[in-house]
Amino acid sequence: MKRILIFCLIVIFIILPFFSGKTLNSAIGSEEKANMLFGGEDDVDFAKKMWKSIKGYQDWLIKSDILPGKSHGPFVRVYYNMVSADEKNYHAIVKDNLDSNKELTAVALMVQREDGYDPENDNWFWVKYETDGSISKNDKGLALAGKVAKGMDMGCIACHKGAADKDYIFINDEKAYGR
Ligand code: HEC
Repeated sequence: MKRILIFCLIVIFIILPFFSGKTLNSAIGSEEKANMLFGGEDDVDFAKKMWKSIKGYQDWLIKSDILPGKSHGPFVRVYYNMVSADEKNYHAIVKDNLDSNKELTAVALMVQREDGYDPENDNWFWVKYETDGSISKNDKGLALAGKVAKGMDMGCIACHKGAADKDYIFINDEKAYGR
């Protein structure tokens, strides 16, 4: 009887706090990590730099017509170029989201960043801008810039994972943009 009591006391005072402390810590850790994936200071800084780098993108030579869209509004128009910031060059794909009157409602941008930025997702940086260039936010107030919604079921990365050849890009797919 005494032994059982001692055993119970050990469980309650020594083992349980250890485990609950651990799970609590790892829960906080993963939440912090999730927050770091997008909407952080570095993401917002880079997104602001990129807005400057893509200035005048409407005149880039490599651009599509206005095409029917599926996920970003009834019509879209895409543009490609190399852009630079802080003496580094990046592949950039800009997309205008257009409404049924072909008026601009938002601008989405994918920038392929340096090796190691997000190797699991081909190092793409994702950002959505309002028409005035400010960075759009999700319903929790997080800026939509960075590894947006990485590991989640919805959002830039999850949806673009479905592009053919696993390259995160729809422009080179046989069935996209109304084709
Ligand atoms: C529900 C699916 C979905 C989500 C979420 C999504 N996209 Fe897209 N995206 C598409 C599809 C499909 C296209 C092809 C054009 C179309 O049909 O609208 C596309 C096209 C693009 C393009 C042009 C390059 C390409 O792949 O053809 C960019 C840039 C882009 N999206 C950026 C973003 C960003 C940034 C986010 C997050 C803020 C995002 N997308 C979220 C489905 C999605």
